[in-house]
Amino acid sequence: MMNVMRIGIACDHGGFDLKEELTSFLQTLGHEPIDLGTFNENSVDYPDYGMMLAEQVSKGDLKLGILICGTGIGMSIVANKYKGVRAALVNDLYSARYSREHTDANVLVIGGRIVGKDLAKEIVKTWLESSFLGGRHQRRLEKIASLEEKNFRA
Ligand code: RB5
Repeated sequence: MMNVMRIGIACDHGGFDLKEELTSFLQTLGHEPIDLGTFNENSVDYPDYGMMLAEQVSKGDLKLGILICGTGIGMSIVANKYKGVRAALVNDLYSARYSREHTDANVLVIGGRIVGKDLAKEIVKTWLESSFLGGRHQRRLEKIASLEEKNFRA
């Protein structure tokens, strides 16, 4: 039996088309997408949508999330400011697999203006089907987690 997952998804205008496509795709795969917007192509600020999703992942309300903006860069920067969020900007299949196996990414970020729809679907499928390998990778994630306890200032 497949494990049905609640997966948050959010975007800005640069990721809107792809977000719509991936939301349906997640349903096709049997998952439950939680669509946090944006809901049309009007220009919005990506931090507002990245924050909404990353906050829920950080609190544990969502285990996994997908963020899409034009390049994926802005969304990655936003999401990685949240404690416990490991957001990976993934625009290829190799990174899709290893972002889970080695870095246990809990947020997948895709550049909506970089990646075509078919590749994006393969990236999502690969990401969801891959799992964290633990072992030496766990030790490395613990080092990242310990950084979150420090308050770095310039
Ligand atoms: C919006 O034009 C664009 O800046 C945004 O989607 C994203 O690419 C930011 O990283």
